[in-house]
Amino acid sequence: MDLGLQGRRAIVTGGSKGIGKAIAHELALEGADIAICARGDTELQVAASMLREKTQRNIFAMSLDVTNRSSVNDFIEKAAEELGGLDILINNAGSPVTGTFEEVDIERWRQDLEVKLFAPIYCIHAVLPYLKESDQPRIININSIVGRQSTPEYIANSTDRAACLGFNKVLSDNLAKYGILVNSINPGNVKSEAWDSTIEYFSPDQELEDWYQTVSQDTPLGRVAEAEEIAALTAFLASKRAGYITGASIDIDGGLTRYI
Ligand SMILES: NC(=O)c1ccc[n+]([C@@H]2O[C@H](COP(=O)([O-])OP(=O)(O)OC[C@H]3O[C@@H](n4cnc5c(N)ncnc54)[C@H](OP(=O)(O)O)[C@@H]3O)[C@@H](O)[C@H]2O)c1
Repeated sequence: MDLGLQGRRAIVTGGSKGIGKAIAHELALEGADIAICARGDTELQVAASMLREKTQRNIFAMSLDVTNRSSVNDFIEKAAEELGGLDILINNAGSPVTGTFEEVDIERWRQDLEVKLFAPIYCIHAVLPYLKESDQPRIININSIVGRQSTPEYIANSTDRAACLGFNKVLSDNLAKYGILVNSINPGNVKSEAWDSTIEYFSPDQELEDWYQTVSQDTPLGRVAEAEEIAALTAFLASKRAGYITGASIDIDGGLTRYI
């Protein structure tokens, strides 16, 4: 299937690790040029070098915190200059905030909302003039099934992701007049560096591979996802083949959620 991604220009926030790195890799393998960002510069530059080496595409990398609006504006402007325009924005940066209502720190919760809801808003504001110029413009928000399925140990995450899903839907309506497609991907459990810290909350004495087995027990497919599986769906939604999909919220969870 020709995805029509050759020569497209994509931003992937949180592209230094896990799902974001896999998405950047997949899009670059399909022929897109990529701009990635993350806070930690060392891992970001390592990821950028890997992407250049494996895909021979133009890879721009800049370290920043996506909750800082002026840094986001600077990043998008430089990325557009470096890549010669922008067609695709993947809002992916984020880390899990664990805890029940009585456990979660309120400032940590506020920060989570900044990263998961306001940072995508900053990115979309900055990228909009470029997407309006594109003939295949796409915004893909990496959310989570916890925004649709109440998850008591993730009250901040669940609440903030529900807001993100509302935003995704309304935004798709607002931007349809420009032909900009806006969709949400909601992963279940995916192997990534994020679990290194999350396991401390859920099961500090368990090895990560054992923990993956434990969380797989409730999943009909009997395993957690690979980041590359989220990347494959992302590439499809970014492609010309997904031209009639907007406002969608797509779970990719091995059957974990049971709602209809
Ligand atoms: N893994 C899962 O099971 C799972 C399930 C559902 C949803 N998700 C969602 O998928 C997305 C990616 O998760 P992941 O598992 O791949 O996590 P990860 O391995 O921890 O990677 C997160 C990425 O985001 C960057 N990042 C985090 N906060 C940032 C900030 N304030 N500014 C800029 N960059 C930031 C990180 O780099 P720095 O730390 O260096 O900034 C890193 O590149 C997240 O939004 C997460 O909520 C993951």
